[in-house]
Amino acid sequence: MTIENEEDLRKLKIISRIVYETLMIMRKHLKPGISTLELDEIGRKNLNRYGANSAPKVTYDFPGYTCISINEEAAHGIPSERIVKPGDVVNIDVSAELDGYFGDTGGTFPVPPVDPRIEYLCQSTRTALKNAMKVARAGAKVNQIGLAIEKTAKRAGFVTIKDLGSHGIGRGLHEEPNFIANFYDKNDTRRLEEGQVITIEPFLSTGSESTTTALDGWSLCTAPGNFSAQYEYTMVISKNKPLVLTTL
Ligand code: CO
Ligand code: CO
Repeated sequence: MTIENEEDLRKLKIISRIVYETLMIMRKHLKPGISTLELDEIGRKNLNRYGANSAPKVTYDFPGYTCISINEEAAHGIPSERIVKPGDVVNIDVSAELDGYFGDTGGTFPVPPVDPRIEYLCQSTRTALKNAMKVARAGAKVNQIGLAIEKTAKRAGFVTIKDLGSHGIGRGLHEEPNFIANFYDKNDTRRLEEGQVITIEPFLSTGSESTTTALDGWSLCTAPGNFSAQYEYTMVISKNKPLVLTTL
């Protein structure tokens, strides 16, 4: 969506703060021994506290309130009895709706002991998000986001996952401009507009450039032994740097 008035901005700020706070609370509880179902329940409770609804649940009937993806799973992992173990690389993605407005945030949190290569993967993915935000301004081509992400990944010796991307958001979880690639797509001629609400969520990986859907019908998996990282903010495009909404 494109923000039209103060009310739009105010309500987007509220739901974006809620999803970000929920992510931070879940991150605090992410420790060896907890199951991803227990973690999801912590997320559900915090969303409930505000009367917010899980976006994947209301939009896609996802079997969970948040997405929790471990190791070779890149995204859309289903909360389950699976127990978090030392050394696991855990991605938590929280998106929700309140009053007809949507916010979306996510992050990858490696559980100690952390392999230095995984630490570097996570750091590089955060840099990719930062670099993408530098070029995401009104009038710029949408494909500059993918270019910045791809460049950052390459420089660090990683690849990007090509079938996952960023997206417009606001009145729905996934809106136009939908599928903002994690790589430079020269055929994408779309331009960013002032007031447009989008997410930026780079996916960097140690080797896999695509995902396959697991037998559970939801989890998007990379190759066995592969690791990926994602960090996601919801933001408003302006003439200068974007206004990040997923913050406390
Ligand atoms: Co998300
Ligand atoms: Co998203």
